[in-house]
Amino acid sequence: MSKKRIGILTSGGDCAGLNAVIRAVVHRADLLGWEVIGLLNGTASLMEEDPEYRVLKPNDFSGQIMREGGTILGTTNKGNPFAFPMPDGTVKDRSGEIVDGFHKIGLEAVIGIGGDGSFAILKRLADQGNINMVGIPKTIDNDIGMTETAVGFDTAVSVATEALDRLQPTAASHDRVMILEVMGRDAGHIAMSAGIAGGADVILIPEVDYSVDKIAEKIKAVKRSGRNFALVVVSEAVKTIDGEKFEVTYHGGETRYGGIGQYLGQKIAEATGFETRVTILGHVQRGGAPTYNDRLLASAFGVKAVDLVRDGKFGRMVAWSNREVIDVSIEDAIRAYQQVDIDGVMVKTARSLGISLGD
Ligand code: F6P
Repeated sequence: MSKKRIGILTSGGDCAGLNAVIRAVVHRADLLGWEVIGLLNGTASLMEEDPEYRVLKPNDFSGQIMREGGTILGTTNKGNPFAFPMPDGTVKDRSGEIVDGFHKIGLEAVIGIGGDGSFAILKRLADQGNINMVGIPKTIDNDIGMTETAVGFDTAVSVATEALDRLQPTAASHDRVMILEVMGRDAGHIAMSAGIAGGADVILIPEVDYSVDKIAEKIKAVKRSGRNFALVVVSEAVKTIDGEKFEVTYHGGETRYGGIGQYLGQKIAEATGFETRVTILGHVQRGGAPTYNDRLLASAFGVKAVDLVRDGKFGRMVAWSNREVIDVSIEDAIRAYQQVDIDGVMVKTARSLGISLGD
């Protein structure tokens, strides 16, 4: 009898811990006597006439790979296959090609490592092509519903916390207010966690409306207390006081959040008279070695995902809940987009430490 073949792919923005997930899947599958096929660049390689893939073996992971950021399989957060941008400027539905590619390789199931956007696409492809799919949540934004955390978040928070640790002494040496802009898309989880861990005085997140006067009041109070510096963390999706998004348009027309830190730096300087400097942390939050927490989460998620395939439980996403790995419906997870709970423990903790949320 031929070996059971399962596919694995990484989709959406990368983050630290993806290679550790792949390693866990490959090891667990190998113990069950299965073959793991690494699909390249999300679903992109399945569109090829002759889909390119990589057979993955436990030995591939004996060295450096699981310790590294990025993904050995490649990924993309562009090119929705249902409206794929073609070189002539038109868009085409290429979902059928992907489904065909999947069946050509002879996969019994696919494990997709992604965020909510990727899962929405993978779920649609799975429904259309009768593909057995299991999802593993990864995102630095930690905005996927039905799971307390996702692979990559812990590392991103560590990087942002370290940035605050590095900004504090230079802020103190120069009597400055330092503004750190972090990623997170429409959820303020990175700002909230890193802000608390890194001793911020002000944390601004898209879930809480701010006023410049309130921010200025807090910073002046800090200075009055005898401290000569202040730290402000702002999440990239925070809007201007007029409710405008700050975005950057890249070549090709793609837009991403970015720039609110600079705007707030100006406003804070005007309102307080203090010198401000702005750091935009950007993609640094996605790279580097995963923290031990992300490696553990990646390992537990990878093992559970393979076990779901073994048990024939498809359309499910592995999730972290109450010190356990559980499985939830992918559909429910996509529906329950998870922003910061303004009545939750993190917000309460921040406020109880005297951190201003600008409101
Ligand atoms: O979703 C992850 C994320 O890093 C967001 O925090 C950020 O807004 C976006 O992706 C950046 O996307 P890109 O890698 O395309 O610049």
